[in-house]
Amino acid sequence: LHIAVLMGGWSAEREVSLMSGAGIADALEANGHRVTRIDMDRHVAERLAEVKPDLVFNALHGTPGEDGSVQGMLDLMGLRYTHSGLVTSVIAIDKVLTKQTLVPAGIPMPGGRIVKSTDIHEQDPLPRPYVLKPVNEGSSVGVAIVTDEGNYGNPIARDAKGPWAEFEELLAEPFIRGRELTTAVLGDRALGVTELKPKSGFYDYDAKYTDGLTEHVCPADIPDEIAEACKRMAVEAHRLLGCKGCSRSDFRWDDSQGEAGLFLLEVNTQPGMTPLSLVPEQAKHIGMSYAELVQRIVEEAL
Ligand code: DAL
Ligand code: MG
Repeated sequence: LHIAVLMGGWSAEREVSLMSGAGIADALEANGHRVTRIDMDRHVAERLAEVKPDLVFNALHGTPGEDGSVQGMLDLMGLRYTHSGLVTSVIAIDKVLTKQTLVPAGIPMPGGRIVKSTDIHEQDPLPRPYVLKPVNEGSSVGVAIVTDEGNYGNPIARDAKGPWAEFEELLAEPFIRGRELTTAVLGDRALGVTELKPKSGFYDYDAKYTDGLTEHVCPADIPDEIAEACKRMAVEAHRLLGCKGCSRSDFRWDDSQGEAGLFLLEVNTQPGMTPLSLVPEQAKHIGMSYAELVQRIVEEAL
């Protein structure tokens, strides 16, 4: 096949996407496909019209790329693409819309509320500890955990020009103490459960993409019923949101509460495919190489 790999773009996760895209493009070539690498800019539609690929491999992360905009453009152009479609992407990129979709269907997620980013330094939006995060970013961009001891991550904005000035609104959620787990879904099957143990205590952008800063335990050393619950919820969330191809669901587990302490945080419809990323690692653990995983994602899109 002639496959165009869309990567880069101008989201906050541009660099992550370039890493994902490079790995994917190399694997597609190794699998015998003809590959055109496209760093997305405002002229991407013209470029695709010129290239006329059989398939677009979407290796974009964040907004735009994971949020439905690119999916809508590709739909209009009549081009096939990997991963989720327009409506799923619009819902899953938005952590509030995701909760509104999944919680009524019985998937436990932390409660939360939207706050104005200019208000957060005047008073705590929730009892501590809580998390503040942009509604539609990935890779922990702009996330802070506020505890009685202070705050982890970005300093709280002291004025409107603080680090969150670009985010008018933030989502405040109670912080679930305990452990960080993640489960990939490929097709309709969960690949496994990984526990992330960041050395700093916070699985932030640096801990995600700097080799050695986070220990990945795959499969996670957790009771079977918790692993099964992660897999069940990840598959169910994938299905309820209408995800296609591959997704990855992230969880927090308060291990003092048994299964009642397990909460889904979000579903990533364009999960990272970098050398340190979790989906390739879970695939490898079940005997699927990176190149095989990429090929499976292609087949899911045909
Ligand atoms: N947002 C990053 C790419 C991930 O979910 O892996
Ligand atoms: Mg995410």
